[in-house]
Amino acid sequence: MTEADLAQFKNWFSEFTCRYRYDDINDQRNITLKERHTKNVCANMLEIARAHFSNSNDILLAEAIALFHDTGRFPQYDKYRTFKDAASVNHGLLGAQTLLQEQVLARLPEEERQLIIQSVKYHNAYKIPANQTAKTNDFLRMIRDADKLDIWDVFIELFSLPEDQRASAATLGFPDTDGCSDGLTQCIHDKKMGNLKDVRSVNDYKILLLTWIFDINYEKSFLLIEDRSYIARISEYLPQNDDIRQITAELAVYVSKMAAGCSALSL
Ligand SMILES: [Fe+2]
Repeated sequence: MTEADLAQFKNWFSEFTCRYRYDDINDQRNITLKERHTKNVCANMLEIARAHFSNSNDILLAEAIALFHDTGRFPQYDKYRTFKDAASVNHGLLGAQTLLQEQVLARLPEEERQLIIQSVKYHNAYKIPANQTAKTNDFLRMIRDADKLDIWDVFIELFSLPEDQRASAATLGFPDTDGCSDGLTQCIHDKKMGNLKDVRSVNDYKILLLTWIFDINYEKSFLLIEDRSYIARISEYLPQNDDIRQITAELAVYVSKMAAGCSALSL
């Protein structure tokens, strides 16, 4: 893959997103959110890729994967007016299908084409499916990190806004009620990622976002989590009680150990 390929991909993507323009202010806000998200995920991906890869070709591939990872969000929203995959369509799969249908990657060698398609297809899977090549696995782990880093930023900004100014599709329609479910706080004690099916409220969703820390892979991503204070900034919007203080402290210890190069298995 070359710089010229990446430039052409960026042109295609901006032409593609221009097809999704809405008169309704709420619809347009939802789409703009995804355009900004893509830009930020590209920046995150570059930071992680530059820390991990020495080969410039791999860095270009990493940026292309970030650029395309949410391609499916646009046709998903257009057809269903939601970003909730369970109520519409798997946006990773739809993104991969869209790239294939439009033959966007035709100029790349087969191996690179497959790598991008697989990474887009599974970037949002609950777990990375087995039987990926080692290289695809590396890129998948990376896009999943880069994506989560920006999703934390998107939500922190969203939680700070009055409800009528929020992009409505972002909190997936959960009610903003008091308290949080025990199952999700337990996930943090167990150092495992929570599941969207256990979320009942916006507070639960905030804890789910925190449990994503246990699905982060690269040391550079943990350093960015520390630098950007995601844990403290999300927990600010949760009820201030001992349970929340406890999970916040546990997460901070985990992140600082992982940022210092520990392996998750040893913690
Ligand atoms: Fe994303």
